Amino acid sequence: MTPLRCIRRILLGLPLLCPITAWAFGEVFDVREATIASVHDALFTGKTRCRDIVSSFIARIEEFNPAINAVISLNPAALSDADNLDDRLMAGNTTGALFCVPVLLKDNFDAVGMSTTGGCKALAGNKPLEDAPTVKALKDAGAVILGKTNLHEMALEGLTVSSLGGQTLNPYDLTRTPGGSSGGSGAAIAANMAILATGTDTKNSLRSPASANALFSFRPTRGLISRAGVIPVSWTQDAVGAMARNPQDLAVALTVMASVGSDPRDNATALVHPEVRKIDYLASLRGGSLTGLRLGLLDGFFDHTVSDETTPVNDVMADMVAMLTAAGVDVVNITDPLYDSLAISELNVEGFEFREMLDAHLGATASVQDERPINFNDLYDSGQYLVIPAQHGLIRSASHLSTGDAAYAETLDGIRDLTRALEATFEGNGLDGIIYPEQKNLVVKVGSPSQSGRNGILAALTGFPVVCVPAGFSSPSADAPLGVPVGMEILGRPWSEDLLLNIARHIDELMHTVEPRVYDNVPSITPNVASIPDAYP
Ligand SMILES: *[C@@H]1O[C@H](CO)[C@@H](O)[C@H](O)[C@H]1NC(C)=O
Ligand SMILES: *[C@@H]1O[C@H](CO)[C@@H](O)[C@H](O)[C@H]1NC(C)=O
Ligand SMILES: *[C@@H]1O[C@H](CO)[C@@H](O)[C@H](O)[C@H]1NC(C)=O
Repeated sequence: MTPLRCIRRILLGLPLLCPITAWAFGEVFDVREATIASVHDALFTGKTRCRDIVSSFIARIEEFNPAINAVISLNPAALSDADNLDDRLMAGNTTGALFCVPVLLKDNFDAVGMSTTGGCKALAGNKPLEDAPTVKALKDAGAVILGKTNLHEMALEGLTVSSLGGQTLNPYDLTRTPGGSSGGSGAAIAANMAILATGTDTKNSLRSPASANALFSFRPTRGLISRAGVIPVSWTQDAVGAMARNPQDLAVALTVMASVGSDPRDNATALVHPEVRKIDYLASLRGGSLTGLRLGLLDGFFDHTVSDETTPVNDVMADMVAMLTAAGVDVVNITDPLYDSLAISELNVEGFEFREMLDAHLGATASVQDERPINFNDLYDSGQYLVIPAQHGLIRSASHLSTGDAAYAETLDGIRDLTRALEATFEGNGLDGIIYPEQKNLVVKVGSPSQSGRNGILAALTGFPVVCVPAGFSSPSADAPLGVPVGMEILGRPWSEDLLLNIARHIDELMHTVEPRVYDNVPSITPNVASIPDAYP
């Protein structure tokens, strides 16, 4: 592809099929393991301009994206947005918690000037006229949107392959998937292509990529963050959230995204208590202690068989439990047979809700291009979509199931029972949180039929919040020189995000100080991608 066509594709917001060579380039900012604090330090001490920071991240994407295929399109306005922030910086106005912080959006979030494709060819021309409210909140806080990340098409599975974006690879092990469906976001943040990325979660999708890429993520309590302006799957189960390389940056992302508040376009947001709206999640990361906390451990969310794919997860979790116990946490082994993630998955309602949600979304979203499907049937009659068995089953059921079915009402009753039982488990055991591995086995290899073994369904159905933390790695191997990351979910009672984030912060500190053995492998600089040279040695 010629450079000119390449730039045209970027300007049109089309998938990135070519390296970008035309960006003006000033001071190089070292993007490796950069944080909100390090970006602000570089900016506010006059070391660098916002344009240099944004250019450096774009250069990083240019260099590494061909190997992992995480970014699907770039924001043509990223550099001019950075220039506007530089003007404000010169004028002494650096208002905004995310001032000049580079952010990538999963490609199911609406952002003006870019297509929202869901990774689906049929939606390549779906250019919204309005930002999703969460995207607007990120921009209002000063974030620079760098571009969009690949996802499992329409967020329907966890492999992160799509008809438009192809297969995203895991930067820690190029033979494995990055989890999903927000796998492009996970792989991109692990590879230092931005500071933060957004994701969505209907069953696992903000947690599986965090787990597979050694990142922190949150899935908020149902209603905390408006889901408007994001391609939906399920009213009951959908959540929007973010991923980051540390709990502090994640807390800032949560504060900003939750600031959208009550939103008439997402009636679940009416549930939020006004006091919850006032929480500054970064401030909640101070003080507190693990000593005296009671965390339930869901034994049914483990696969105790001995195998190359399950034993590393069980070993990492055993180390984690030992570390928590040594830190004074009371870890309570919960053996209630209710907690069997395959059995709980029977209550998944996305098949009943998907078609109606998509019809409403495509019908209502004003688009600058009309040549795109206007509803579910139109989309799935187009032939312009991914055909793999794992998601085809869901699309087929969604084409005839509906929320008017008696089975839907029965399943919702089952979800209410599950929610009451979960509340009783918290109450009966005096728990502050519940922990379990996000996935019973290592994230699956590329080419696998589905992302098997995940445990995210409990939070997805009950709407309880989760913070996912890096828990450790499998042993290094030729394919994974640092090992394959393993993540742990910390599930809390509704609106306990501040507590969960603070537990995550304490665990992060412990893993860096008290128990270096567990964290030895952590790529303090760059996740190794064996075949990828360092951008700035
Ligand atoms: C700083 O810039 C923001 C964004 O343009 C603007 O809303 C705000 O009023 C400015 N603050 C001051 C003190 O000028
Ligand atoms: C909330 O919105 C959903 C999806 O639009 C709809 O199905 C549901 O009936 C609404 N609930 C209430 C209480 O209005
Ligand atoms: C929980 O207890 C059961 C029954 O005593 C035991 O088999 C299991 O190994 C324990 N689970 C964990 C994760 O310690």
